[in-house]
Amino acid sequence: MKYGLDFGTSNSTISFDDGINITLLPVEKSLNTPEIMPSLLYFEDIEKKWYFGHDAFIEYKENGGDGRFIQSIKKLLADNMYTGTHIGFKFYSLEKLIELYFREIKKRADKIVQKNVKAITIGRPVYFSRNLNDGLAEKRLQTAASRAGFEEIDFVLEPLAATYALKKQIAEPTNVFTIDIGGGTTDVSIVSLMPNGNGSSRILSTHGISVGGIDFTSQIMNNRLLKYFGLGTTYKSIFNQKMPFPKYALRHITDWYNSLKMVHNQQFMSFLKEVKRTTSDPEKIKCLEELVYEKLGLEIFIAIETAKIALSEDMEAYVEYRQNGIDIQELVKRIEFEHYIASYANEISEMMDESLNQGELDYDQMDIVLMVGGSSKIPLLKKIIEDKFPTIPVIQTNIYSSVAYGLSVADHPFQGSTF
Ligand SMILES: Nc1ncnc2c1ncn2[C@@H]1O[C@H](COP(=O)(O)OP(=O)(O)OP(=O)(O)O)[C@@H](O)[C@H]1O
Ligand SMILES: [Mg+2]
Repeated sequence: MKYGLDFGTSNSTISFDDGINITLLPVEKSLNTPEIMPSLLYFEDIEKKWYFGHDAFIEYKENGGDGRFIQSIKKLLADNMYTGTHIGFKFYSLEKLIELYFREIKKRADKIVQKNVKAITIGRPVYFSRNLNDGLAEKRLQTAASRAGFEEIDFVLEPLAATYALKKQIAEPTNVFTIDIGGGTTDVSIVSLMPNGNGSSRILSTHGISVGGIDFTSQIMNNRLLKYFGLGTTYKSIFNQKMPFPKYALRHITDWYNSLKMVHNQQFMSFLKEVKRTTSDPEKIKCLEELVYEKLGLEIFIAIETAKIALSEDMEAYVEYRQNGIDIQELVKRIEFEHYIASYANEISEMMDESLNQGELDYDQMDIVLMVGGSSKIPLLKKIIEDKFPTIPVIQTNIYSSVAYGLSVADHPFQGSTF
C-alpha cells in the first residue's frame, strides 16, 4: 500500500497502489478534474484557518486578497536563502508549509482509501534548480513528508515516472524520449523501456531546466501589460527634470508573487510616492497603486494565464481584467506570444539536444516521444519537438496525471531493474 505524489509547482496529483491496482485519487472537489489539486495554500487571518488547493483560491478571492496566499512553493525549495515566512506573529518554515499541504492531501487521500497509508513515492524534477541547492530541496521535501505522517519515503524523477506510466502499453523494448513541460520546470528522460516482466529497463539520459509555464505567463505581462501600470508615462525628478517611468521599477510586477510583496518594499514605495506627485498620467499610476495596495497581482496573472491557455487553441486571445479602475483589454496574437517565449523555447530545444548527446544517442533512435505537463500544449513547443522527431510518433495523453500514475508503477519493480 503506497501513494505516488506528484507535487507540482502549479498542480498536485496523488495515486494509490493497493498492491493490485493503481488508481488516481479524486482529492479535489472540482467536478471537471477531481484528481488535480492546485498546489496552493491560504491562511485566512480572521478565523486563523488554513485552506488548501481549490479552496485556497476561492477563500483568498472571497476575502479580497487579505490573509496570506502561497503559490509555487516548490520553486523555493532549492533556495537556502528562503527559510520560511512570518504569518502574523508566527514563523512558518518552508518545510512546515509543505508539511501542512502534505498533511491535507494525505488526509483527503486516506479518507478515500479508508486507510492510514504511511508509504509514499514523491516525484522530483531532474534539477530543482541548477544554480541553487538541489540536495537541500529533496531533503526539505523528505522532512515535510515525514512530519506529515509518512514513514517510508522515496523519490523518483518526474520524467521517469511519466515514462513508467507507458509500461503497460508496450509489447517490446522501446526507446522512450519523455519531455515534461510543467509550471516551474521542463524535464526530459530517455529510457530503454522493457515491457512488464521482461528484465531491466535502462535509463539512458536525464536532464532538466527551470523553465515552465510561470515564465511564459510572466512574459505576457512583461511585454504587453506594463503600459497599464505606468510604463510609457513620465514624471519629474527631484531636479524637476522630466524622466521616463523606468521599466526596472516594474520588474516585480512581472512576477505576481513578488507583486504581492511590493507594498513592503520601502524603495519602491517611496519611488511610487514621488511618481504619483509629478506623473504625466495619474490614471496609470492609480492603477499601479491599486495593484500594489489591493494585491491584485494574482488575479491579473490568472487573467493572463487564461489568455495564454486560449492561445494554445486560438490564433489570438484577449487578456481581460476590469476591476478597481484597472481596465485591461489587450489582444495578444499567438505569433506574438511565440516571439515572447522564443528564448525559453530555444533553451528547451538545446536541453533536448544535450540530453541526447549525454546518452550518445540520435533522435532517430527513439521509438516513442511522450509529451506531458500542462505547458506541453503550447503549439510552438509541440512543433519544436515534432520537428526533431519527424518520423517518430509523439504521444500526448494524460498530461496532468502520468507522473503520479507512474510513481506508483515505479514501485512495482522492474525485476532486477536499474530504476
Ligand atoms: N492548454 C495550455 N496551454 C498552455 N499552457 C497550459 C495549458 N494548460 C496548462 N498550461 C500551463 O501548464 C502549467 C501547469 O502544468 P503542470 O500541472 O504540468 O505543472 P506542474 O506539474 O504543477 O509543475 P512542475 O512539474 O513544473 O513542478 C501552468 O503554467 C499552466 O498555465
Ligand atoms: Mg509536473
